[in-house]
Amino acid sequence: MSLPVRGHKSVMATSYPSESVRRVKEAADIVEVVAGHVALKRTGGSYKGLCPFHGEKTPSFVVHRERGFYHCFGCGEGGDVIAFVMKQQGLSFPEAVRELAQRFHVPLPAEEAGDDGRERRLRAALYEANRKAAELFRRLLLGPPGAAGRRYLAERGIPGALGERFGLGFVPDRWDTLVKEAPRLGLDPETLLAAGLVSRHETGRLYDRFRGRLIFPIFDPRGRVIGFGGRILGPGEPKYLNSPETLVFDKGRTLFGLCQTQAAIRQAGRCVLVEGNFDLLALVAHGIEAVAAPLGTALTRAHLRLLRSHCQELILLFDADAAGLKAALRAVPLVLAEGFEARVGILPAGEDPDTFVRRHGRAGLEACLAAAQPLPEFVCERLVAEHGLSIAGKGRILGELAPLIRDMAQDPIRRSVLVSHVSDRLKLAPDQVLAAVSRPQPQTLPPPRQSAGRQVDLPLQERELLNFLLACPGELDRLAAAGVGAVFSSAAGRAIWEAMQTVRQQEGCPDWSALTLLLGDGPERILVTAGLAAAPAWTPELAAQAAAEMLTRLERLHLRQERDQILTRIQEAQAAANDRLLAELLKAKMALDLRLASPPGAGGHFH
Ligand code: UTP
Ligand code: MN
Repeated sequence: MSLPVRGHKSVMATSYPSESVRRVKEAADIVEVVAGHVALKRTGGSYKGLCPFHGEKTPSFVVHRERGFYHCFGCGEGGDVIAFVMKQQGLSFPEAVRELAQRFHVPLPAEEAGDDGRERRLRAALYEANRKAAELFRRLLLGPPGAAGRRYLAERGIPGALGERFGLGFVPDRWDTLVKEAPRLGLDPETLLAAGLVSRHETGRLYDRFRGRLIFPIFDPRGRVIGFGGRILGPGEPKYLNSPETLVFDKGRTLFGLCQTQAAIRQAGRCVLVEGNFDLLALVAHGIEAVAAPLGTALTRAHLRLLRSHCQELILLFDADAAGLKAALRAVPLVLAEGFEARVGILPAGEDPDTFVRRHGRAGLEACLAAAQPLPEFVCERLVAEHGLSIAGKGRILGELAPLIRDMAQDPIRRSVLVSHVSDRLKLAPDQVLAAVSRPQPQTLPPPRQSAGRQVDLPLQERELLNFLLACPGELDRLAAAGVGAVFSSAAGRAIWEAMQTVRQQEGCPDWSALTLLLGDGPERILVTAGLAAAPAWTPELAAQAAAEMLTRLERLHLRQERDQILTRIQEAQAAANDRLLAELLKAKMALDLRLASPPGAGGHFH
């Protein structure tokens, strides 16, 4: 099987982890790090839990402390402690290293990587600019210029303490509030531009992006200000103005409020998703704390992944208008694909969560949450309302449900719940529903599974050898000296073998957790973590014995290949009537036959 070149190149392109990376990896206990996000249970030598990277009901996520890696048998994700932090928190490699270094008290030299250092400094500058701007906006809200903003918040029922907790601010309606203040704050124009806090007019002058608005700082889960939302106080357009996407701000990956509410979400085991910033504040003001809000964008898988490690249940509490319903429907496949238990709260027409909780109080809203419809029922009702229950209508409903139901193949229980619900509602037999949705419909074929491109396998012989070397790193030298490297002839196999040699050289010992690092994010890494996860614990004696057997097997394989070649050449020599060569070849063949007939275990080399 041939591999995309990318897989092979990644080994070449990745620089070898530095000394400090190695120290960080030694200090950072992968079990402790993972346990911060996944409930782990000890099973024998390793730990098991529900994979935080895909939705699943039965644990197929394994963490191994001594070998320093994690692997999910469900989705194929795997790597070392740094890879876990990168993936879990969406950090770059150096960021993850720094994060772990800080947490496990490993001192790092000031600057490690050249290019990346530049980007890191820029990010740090943006965080700082945002923090200082947020502080300025906060001061303005609390001072004389903020009277209108404070009045507006009071009118909307947001107590001062809540404003404090969410860092709310205010900017008067001027072009240069921040521009004027910037020198005193030590902020230069380039940083302000890169942070999206100011724009440059064609005349060259800078002017503030946020003017005459109530300011909602947007935090990442670690409490850094990454952007802002600004609401106009009265009528006007646009109602909300957000920061543009910057190096540190990506709306599709950010949930407003999560930084402040994540602890409550984790405790409740569920999260209420609302659409608006004020919806979120109003719910929190009424004591419903487990809530988050996308920033006026459609819900994305990245949003849901942010919640994955906190809770298992979602309640979508969208506005009761057509747009809200559409948003809920659009969220359905994502929610199902990520494996959440999800329900949809239905608000009376004309209400949004903010107005509803202010009118009916916490109890009213809790009742609404308790009555929230499970996703299958909700979807079904919406589709029935849209298409009706005529034969044609049922056909269209099944057409719309087909990709959804097919996508749930991984989750048979929930899938059968949905199918049985649909068949009840449409008065069809479950078999009819299944037959209808499994009929291939070219226009609605599901997209290829996300991991499809990454699933690569090695030829059996290579896989066996790889898995053995992963389980018994102590046998590497002996096998390498005997030339087993030649066994790896597939691109992926060669890439892994080369990476193994690199690790062996650089570490002075085969520490395979460094291997996953070296292999980057390609399919080879999955082969390695899968092998590590599947590896049985070998005693040194058994490992030595197995290595000897493997050598013999490989040697005999090699002898047979050599014999085949000689047989071909013998035929050629016969055809050419080259008697001298023929005699030589026959002699060589006899020697080979003899070695093949001798009892195995005589040792030897591959070349
Ligand atoms: P809504 O218009 O539902 O906002 O938009 P809301 O929170 O109910 O606003 P209030 O109650 O009138 O103050 C929902 C979210 O969509 C984003 C904002 O994040 C808002 O909270 N949005 C909305 C924008 O980004 N830009 C807009 O012009 C409007
Ligand atoms: Mn509203």
